[in-house]
Amino acid sequence: MKDKKLHIITFGCQMNVYDSDKIAMMLKDLNYSVTDNPADADMILLNTCSVREGPENKVVSQLGRFKKLKEENPNLILGVGGCVAQQKGEELLKQVKYLDIVFGTDSLPALPDMINTYTQTGKRISQTEIQLSDIYKFVEVTPDYETNNVSDFVKIMKGCNKRCSYCIVPFTRGTEVSKPSKKVIEECKILAKSGVKEITLLGQTVNSYGRDKKNEISFAQLLEKINEIEGIERIRFTSPHPKYFTKDLMDAIYKLDKVMEHIHMPIQSGSNKVLKEMRRQYKSEQFLEQIKYMRSLMPQLEVTTDIIVGYPTETEEDFNLTLDFLKTIQFDNAFSFAYSPRPMTESFNLEETLTLDEKKARLNKLMDLQKEISIKKSQNLIGTIQEVLLDNDSDGRDNNQYSGRTRGNRKVYIDDIKDKKIGDIFNVKITEGYIYTLKGIII
Ligand code: SAH
Ligand code: SF4
Ligand code: F3S
Repeated sequence: MKDKKLHIITFGCQMNVYDSDKIAMMLKDLNYSVTDNPADADMILLNTCSVREGPENKVVSQLGRFKKLKEENPNLILGVGGCVAQQKGEELLKQVKYLDIVFGTDSLPALPDMINTYTQTGKRISQTEIQLSDIYKFVEVTPDYETNNVSDFVKIMKGCNKRCSYCIVPFTRGTEVSKPSKKVIEECKILAKSGVKEITLLGQTVNSYGRDKKNEISFAQLLEKINEIEGIERIRFTSPHPKYFTKDLMDAIYKLDKVMEHIHMPIQSGSNKVLKEMRRQYKSEQFLEQIKYMRSLMPQLEVTTDIIVGYPTETEEDFNLTLDFLKTIQFDNAFSFAYSPRPMTESFNLEETLTLDEKKARLNKLMDLQKEISIKKSQNLIGTIQEVLLDNDSDGRDNNQYSGRTRGNRKVYIDDIKDKKIGDIFNVKITEGYIYTLKGIII
């Protein structure tokens, strides 16, 4: 079989990064190897996101870029997967005449067969059925899996059983299915063998792990088992949901030495009225109590969050409650987004009371406040000693700079890495603190 080149473009969350990686793994069997250059490619795949309108619109403009390549090389295969593919299905084939393959989020394991069918018949193909949970099969990482990453993801579940009023994810990813814990452990061991030091467990509500199965262990128990794997030095997870952030889990995070002191837990709003309308199933006070308890165990714990600004029923007063909440809780960082109405969701038909400019004004105000907090927290770290994992995150490398992550997940730039190699863990003294990054020297 002729060697072929695959170019993958990934939008959206870590779930998509993971899926793209597994696509590349599966397509090795069809003799595809990955290229960074779309002009070299025999196949281009777009792994898409539809969580907000912005990312969704990127898909069509990206596809436009490849129209010319397709005209120059009629054998080029062009495919779209991920959440937009799941949402639009066959409609995408109608909309984009030069598109060949549309694969939904649950069709990932079927992708090699779809490609074979397409190459044999030349018939454009779309497969986007959501699989029933009892027959759903995850793509399995094979023992010969290789990666250059020292930090890698493990998807421990797919889908989401929540129905947050604004969110399209349950519709694009289907219902929650936990990967059998035996398989999760196997996958972590394979990664450890190929040199991975840090793993991040992925799930939409990652701490509800196991609840969909009769005889499965809990998320806290899963952390305990992974903590025992030789070679894995650091464990992270994203994103937990406050509803399942139990005392057992918090105690496990504290007790298990490889579980890092960083929690990314979306609050979405500081107003209980808005939280209720969003169907988030917790109050801001509960969230605050959870963080307080965690900080009492681990004062160095870093906490980050997601926030939606300008939900249709969000008044000025509600918004101020969110600002107050940020001031009280002092997040290390917050990812904030202007509300974007999504098709199929409950809030889609709610009339928006704010204009785009008003939403943006609130967003800017919130971001300014968070920046102040983030930089203050960064500067508090100056002079401290932090344990850093040197990774191969490439940005900054142009300036001959290396970077790593602290246990709290802050990025640290290091000018002189001495005899250290990527994948090493060592102590760094922090010398400078910025909004999102630190600078330090090896001691
Ligand atoms: N499963 C994760 C979130 C996945 S989506 C969780 O529930 O914790 C990532 C983030 O996108 C969300 O936390 C939310 O802040 C944001 N988001 C989701 N839908 C949105 C919408 N319709 N408009 C704006 N932001 C949205
Ligand atoms: Fe979306 Fe809510 Fe599920 Fe997160 S928990 S993916 S915000 S529905
Ligand atoms: Fe986007 Fe789908 Fe992830 S909508 S955020 S790629 S689950």
